[in-house]
Amino acid sequence: MGKALRRKVIAGNWKMNMTPSQACEFIEKLKPMTAGLDGADIVVCVPDVDIAVIAEKIAGTNIKLGAQNAHWAEKGAFTGETSTAMLKEMGVEYVINGHSERRQYFGEVNDTVNSRVLAVLGAGLKTILCVGELLSEREQGVTDEIISIQVKCALRNVTEEQMERVIIAYEPVWAIGTGKTATAEDADAVTGMIRSLLAKLYSPETAEKALIQYGGSMNAKNAAELLAKPNVDGGLIGGASLVAEDFTAIIKAAQ
Ligand code: PGA
Repeated sequence: MGKALRRKVIAGNWKMNMTPSQACEFIEKLKPMTAGLDGADIVVCVPDVDIAVIAEKIAGTNIKLGAQNAHWAEKGAFTGETSTAMLKEMGVEYVINGHSERRQYFGEVNDTVNSRVLAVLGAGLKTILCVGELLSEREQGVTDEIISIQVKCALRNVTEEQMERVIIAYEPVWAIGTGKTATAEDADAVTGMIRSLLAKLYSPETAEKALIQYGGSMNAKNAAELLAKPNVDGGLIGGASLVAEDFTAIIKAAQ
């Protein structure tokens, strides 16, 4: 098994954008543009309030539904949080975990990322687990160490069988929303390093099968070069996923 046999995943991360009516309008525009593009899995990770309307609109299409976070507890006194059972019942299949914006602004740490990942996988959902170094860390030359710690901590107690539902998104923090993309070579080097780490943590077979995305200012222009790299199995796309033409161009680049 090698890159050719791993099915790419192109996931849009809408972040805190699009009211339900805007989401409706957007998805109605996207649907015909992406119809028949079946060379990669297409996912939209939408705000919780948009889940119901998007679930209805994408029924029967090749677009899959994702959420942007999920709590680790089954239920209870966690004001403002959403459980995996709630998401599942709404038709959600993917959940982003450990996004750098959660780490940066909402006190997310490796330990809580791990708890959330375990809850998502325990519920039978797929996780898009985000890891990434800060600019200062890259400049200090500790990127591999930082990424290794984030991956190891987030995957603590995740079984080899559950790894089939884990997508790792390598997202250098300095590249997110900045218009600065990692070079395709750097993206390949770090995603390759993650793959080697998975071989050690699990097995060479699991590492070969693992889906590892790049994220951080991926756009219609740079997607093809990034996605052609041997270790890059797709993208997690923020800004460009909010423009139907651009998101479609990225999906086409992954075919
Ligand atoms: P960006 O965001 O594409 O806007 O840089 C990527 C992400 O945060 O997942």
